[in-house]
Amino acid sequence: MNIKKAITFLLINTLLLGGFPDFRLPVQDYRVPELAVIQQTPYGRPISKLQSSVYLPTPEELLATPKPTVTPTPTPVPTATPKPTATPKPTATPKPTPVPLGKTQAVTSGALSFSFPETAPLNTDTSTYTLLVNKEYKLPSTYIPFMVEPDVEIYHKGINERRYLQPVAATALKELFDAAEADGLHLVLRCGFRSYRLQNSIYTWNLKTYGYYEVSRYHALPGTSEHQTGLAIDLCCKATNYKNNFDFLKTKEYAWLLENAHLYGWILRYPEDKTHITGYNFEPWHFRYVGVELATYLKEDNLVLEEYYGALPTTNLLVIPDEYLKYLSPEDYALMLQDIADFEKKQEEAAGPQVSPTPAPTPAGSPDIVPGPTPTPTPDLTPKIMQTPSTYIQ
Ligand code: DAL
Ligand code: ZN
Repeated sequence: MNIKKAITFLLINTLLLGGFPDFRLPVQDYRVPELAVIQQTPYGRPISKLQSSVYLPTPEELLATPKPTVTPTPTPVPTATPKPTATPKPTATPKPTPVPLGKTQAVTSGALSFSFPETAPLNTDTSTYTLLVNKEYKLPSTYIPFMVEPDVEIYHKGINERRYLQPVAATALKELFDAAEADGLHLVLRCGFRSYRLQNSIYTWNLKTYGYYEVSRYHALPGTSEHQTGLAIDLCCKATNYKNNFDFLKTKEYAWLLENAHLYGWILRYPEDKTHITGYNFEPWHFRYVGVELATYLKEDNLVLEEYYGALPTTNLLVIPDEYLKYLSPEDYALMLQDIADFEKKQEEAAGPQVSPTPAPTPAGSPDIVPGPTPTPTPDLTPKIMQTPSTYIQ
């Protein structure tokens, strides 16, 4: 790492990411992920194991782990008895320990009936690039992966955390942009990494400014944004004046991405036909790195990560946590309650009418007769009010 990059990284960590003081992050050893371990998936056909060999410790782990003493330059010390060479150190390789997340089990709500095939074991391990992060599976607030600046055009200039991605994603982004360029198209990275802190600012601002529907459909709560993984990107191009909005749908760049992004390991993360599963409205600009194998697999089978991992949606998709409720207007609060009630009703309906073992005799003419619910198969979380985000500030 050259001096400029090191200083930039340092400034970002200390100034922009909340005074995060660990100066050792930039010098962590980064090993190139090993891909091609073939295994049988629960789907029954082989894909790569998709587990990177990289272990990216959290800042707390870094602080908790005693650092090996740094020997700056290996000055050869003359010794009388030459040491026996190449004794492998058994404890040298850190064992990947899953970072504690909000939840570690797949959601097994029986209320919804999606026709999933068998699913892969849920992966929330931040040392892999196939992990699931969403409204249900959260990252610790202090999680910051090791990252680099991709060698592509980036919208935000100067020192800005949005310019960073995990190395594996940065390399794949360069490949993606180069391939687009070869086809005469110029893409620009609008946003890569976003810290918990930045996500909190964006979420709070949008909640105060635009209210319930905007944030529940377009903005992740801090700790639940894929941008905090350093594996997600928002893309833009000249035709949309480098903005993230639905004009992107009409661009050649978007059409090209739909055809080609998977070849470089990227997936469209929040597609139009999966809003009831991802919990987010359609975001044509948001792509996620998962590696070529999984990206190809998901594209061929038209699956989103939630379907792949069998992580079914719950009402967590819609709940604004207590600490943010003070920013909701009474009208918006009522909208939220209605939204949750509607979703729960649809879940019940999807589950079908409940069979009561011994129906209690009801007196004739009782006013308490409630008709059974009419089953409808799929819950629909399509926004009722907003079709496009008012503004997408990043
Ligand atoms: N707009 C996406 C969902 C995010 O905030 O991460
Ligand atoms: Zn995004």
